[in-house]
Amino acid sequence: MRNDDIRLAARLLIRVFRGESLEAALDVAGATLVSARIRAWVYGVCRHYFSVSEQLAALCRTPLTKLDREVLAVLLIGVYQLTHSNAKPYAVVSESVEAIKRMHKQSAAFLVNAVLRKVERDFKPASLSGKHELPDWLIEKLRDAYGEKFIRSHLACLNSRMPQCLRVNQHKISPHSFHAALRSQNIGYTLLRQDTTVRLCNPQPSHSIPGYSEGWFTVQDASAQLPVRELDLQPKLRVLDACAAPGNKAFQLLEHDVELIALDINPTRSAWCETESKRLGLPLSITEGDATNKGWWDGCPFDRILLDAPCSATGTIGRHPDVKIHRKPEQLSALKDRQVQLLSNLWDVLAPDGVLVYATCSLLPEENDAVIVHLAETHDDVRSETLSVRPSDRPLIVPQEFGIQLFPDPDWGDGFYLAKLRKVKPVT
Ligand SMILES: C[S@@+](CC[C@H](N)C(=O)[O-])C[C@H]1O[C@@H](n2cnc3c(N)ncnc32)[C@H](O)[C@@H]1O
Repeated sequence: MRNDDIRLAARLLIRVFRGESLEAALDVAGATLVSARIRAWVYGVCRHYFSVSEQLAALCRTPLTKLDREVLAVLLIGVYQLTHSNAKPYAVVSESVEAIKRMHKQSAAFLVNAVLRKVERDFKPASLSGKHELPDWLIEKLRDAYGEKFIRSHLACLNSRMPQCLRVNQHKISPHSFHAALRSQNIGYTLLRQDTTVRLCNPQPSHSIPGYSEGWFTVQDASAQLPVRELDLQPKLRVLDACAAPGNKAFQLLEHDVELIALDINPTRSAWCETESKRLGLPLSITEGDATNKGWWDGCPFDRILLDAPCSATGTIGRHPDVKIHRKPEQLSALKDRQVQLLSNLWDVLAPDGVLVYATCSLLPEENDAVIVHLAETHDDVRSETLSVRPSDRPLIVPQEFGIQLFPDPDWGDGFYLAKLRKVKPVT
């Protein structure tokens, strides 16, 4: 019944508002309970959170922050359905009223009914955050960093739905044979610059793609595939993946037959890692350790280091719309401090002439080039190397002083930053 779905969706939204990621909230609820419709509502409310809340605030006498959280969640789902789906308005209103009654909020039934009846399908938000579906602070930061022209031409891309991309596991199959397997099942695809990076024309469950059980591919965003490619890998090199969990890039590193140490302060989803390891035929185990100190280090320097740093994830809003609800500007300075600490500690464990790739899925210069600037100012053996990824218009790739900034693009993937640094002899 529709009102059962509304109640479950409201419970999931409340978990997200309390700070859980959308993915984690949906995982907890379990795939069998969460229908495509519930998923669409919960994702939809997060994706359109700013305009939906603006309309709701205009219709409610009580400030939204003072509303009971279950009532608020049911109202947001109602407004979202009325403005962004083809559901019949009378059905949305009556099922929402029924849902709130069954949540033992009888007294709110009148409010839900009265508010949802007044929702305008073509509501035009007055605020910038409502228009762009992004928090004001983020719009401001992006304007400061990239200018007004960027805001006008690229802001919409931040909210675009991102495609499903695969990376061919060359340990198991050649790109050519994998493409042939897709064609044999009439699965449409495009190659994104590399024959190992395959974008599917229509997303589908991974297990229905040929070669899933055989480990022919992993699902990985096109931008996220780039950092490992910049490491100039050769077999037997000693490589550190310093922030490795859940392990996507570590599996990519292992395809190059390197001697890999994978480290993470919080090696979560280890069951996923074990299953993927077996499926892909790539033995990965992630060691628990804090890469801001050397407690975990055996004293032997690394030829290559990947630092895929914890960050604001502002480049992944299209894929993870909850990021724009969770992220707060006051978190940024702690993030930058940690990024600086990680980079300077890891620089010590890099061998002379070694290469370190610093990557984030952030769009904010303070988490990206500014972190490298700090390292270069405090060390005299840092040389920034040219990346093989070239600047372009689609996806938009803009060179920075040290690295490059990729912006999200619905035909490509997430926003990302990468810089490639070599440890050279200090200038005497
Ligand atoms: C962007 S994610 C890494 C994603 C991973 N490289 C992949 O491709 O699957 C950042 C990771 O940094 C880890 N992390 C945060 N602080 C850390 C620290 N001080 N030492 C090691 N890992 C840390 C987090 O636990 C998180 O798993």
